[in-house]
Amino acid sequence: MTRRGKFVVNKTRDARINFISDAYTTQQSAPQRHDCQNINSPAPPQISCSTRRLAQHQPTPQPILTFAQKLEFVLTLINRMLIGFITIYLCWMSLRLDRADIPWHAVLCTLGFLVLMSEGLMAYYRGNVWTQVCQRPEKARLHWLLQLSGSIIGIIGIMIKICLEEVHFHTRHGIIGLATMIILFISLLSGLSSLYATELKSRLQPRFNKTSHNIIGLITFTLSMASMYYSFETQLFNDFSLDASTYLDFRLLLEITTIIIFVLTAYGPVWCLLYSRI
Ligand code: HEM
Repeated sequence: MTRRGKFVVNKTRDARINFISDAYTTQQSAPQRHDCQNINSPAPPQISCSTRRLAQHQPTPQPILTFAQKLEFVLTLINRMLIGFITIYLCWMSLRLDRADIPWHAVLCTLGFLVLMSEGLMAYYRGNVWTQVCQRPEKARLHWLLQLSGSIIGIIGIMIKICLEEVHFHTRHGIIGLATMIILFISLLSGLSSLYATELKSRLQPRFNKTSHNIIGLITFTLSMASMYYSFETQLFNDFSLDASTYLDFRLLLEITTIIIFVLTAYGPVWCLLYSRI
């Protein structure tokens, strides 16, 4: 929802009706693909929970889902199933071991970077069923809560490994993981500045503020997924994963799954980035 849209909804009843019919008409003629927030963006406003309730009493026709919107719902569903597959497998692989041997690094990094961060990135999706009933501020709150909790859990996971290892950052996985952690801190700072974009507008242009957060967030997610990809060639995975006869095939399956998850999750922010045309 644009700020303009919100203002109109809160002011007068007549304006509300205009807003609803506008939203409906626009949705039917040119459906919005993603809920990008850009004050200057030509994207039509999203229909909010309250306007939906009001709309029930109006004789306006129900919005029709386009093929692209249906496809987005299906792709988000597939993405969640793939994330679930990798998460359940890695947790099962780790948590079935004796308590002293459990590789908490793998468990926490998977939960933090793969589950929570992906979910955080998808908070703004039009194709995300869970956030369909939310307004823009609720989506933003959900986004930063998921990102922050994912970051904390992921960083704890990395710290555990750093404390356990004697030689540090000597593999592709470890080096990319270190880069992920460094960029993650910058990403959290840029998220904070993006959250207070309005308050900071005298110093930093909101559009630039949000776009740079989008870019840094994307770099962080890309690095974390690259680190995840290379985690399947670590000794730990080699030792505790399925037996050797099926190992290579299975590893390939997990690697391809990670790439698909990356593409399906990063698609939304990339789209928003292109749409905001900075
Ligand atoms: C996106 C998620 C992940 C990130 C960001 C990450 C990050 C890191 C970092 C920064 C290190 C270096 C620690 C050091 O050398 O002191 C490391 C090491 C390690 N990680 Fe991960 N990790 C992730 C997921 C995983 C997973 C899922 C596994 C297991 C399947 C795993 C297994 C290992 C192992 C065995 C090491 C030590 C050997 C090496 O550096 O390759 N990691 N990880």
